[in-house]
Amino acid sequence: MDNWEWAEGFEPRFGLIGFDYKTKERAVRDSAKHAGAREVYLVSEPIAAAIGTDLPVNEPCGNMIIDIGGGTTEVAIISLSHIVEHNSIRVGGDEMDSAIINYLRKKYNLYIGEQTAEHIKIQIGSAYPLEKELSMKVKGRNLVTGFPVTVEVKSEEIRDALSETIMTIIDAVKWLLESTAPELAADIADNGIVLTGGACQTRGLDQKLRDTTDLPVNIVNNPLTSVVLGSGKILDNLNYYAPVLMKS
Ligand SMILES: Nc1ncnc2c1ncn2[C@@H]1O[C@H](COP(=O)(O)OP(=O)(O)OP(=O)(O)O)[C@@H](O)[C@H]1O
Ligand SMILES: [Mg+2]
Repeated sequence: MDNWEWAEGFEPRFGLIGFDYKTKERAVRDSAKHAGAREVYLVSEPIAAAIGTDLPVNEPCGNMIIDIGGGTTEVAIISLSHIVEHNSIRVGGDEMDSAIINYLRKKYNLYIGEQTAEHIKIQIGSAYPLEKELSMKVKGRNLVTGFPVTVEVKSEEIRDALSETIMTIIDAVKWLLESTAPELAADIADNGIVLTGGACQTRGLDQKLRDTTDLPVNIVNNPLTSVVLGSGKILDNLNYYAPVLMKS
């Protein structure tokens, strides 16, 4: 299937994302040209991530990759160099940070910034009960007194804060699995799900997905760099990867 046939047929899900892919493609091509590029090749992010993690994208079998980034989560099934099923939501690590900010404001009248929230998420954030629960001291401003305060926060509380965002991500995966053709679903049952993107490193997110889907789930070795690595591999082997490039 041609990429643009897919793009035009793509219906935004969960009402969270919706843009014209052709306009977006043109804008990316134009900005790359303005930045001085002589040739511009476009590839969709999930395919670049899959190539960066050595998934066999050119094979006739289906491979599912989930890229949980800062702003978006992309769930894609790739087969024969194309995305054959796709779901994209504007929920990712940034939304988790906002959820932590809101939770601490409501529970402790504690005001913290985005960087502190991201730090808390990385230090003690989780999607699944931990063998040994964690805690950390969080500095912020008391919204009532206006004074700086320090509050001891537990990983159970942060798990609670993150639960809604994590469920939204899991629902996006479930939705795609449920709407996938049986042959592709059988491939995914064999090959499992591959997780990439920085926010997939949230503790226990892989286990939560494993529990919910009953499928093998593996985190790649390079969640933050798989897209860049994949793009580099495509440029190094343009002939081999020509089928994954979007036609201009
Ligand atoms: N160890 C970690 N645990 C949990 N989250 C993490 C960890 N390391 C990074 N992140 C989160 O990963 C996100 C960034 O991931 P990534 O670099 O893949 O996103 P991006 O590609 O910039 O975003 P997008 O794909 O949405 O455009 C941030 O929200 C960051 O806080
Ligand atoms: Mg990304």
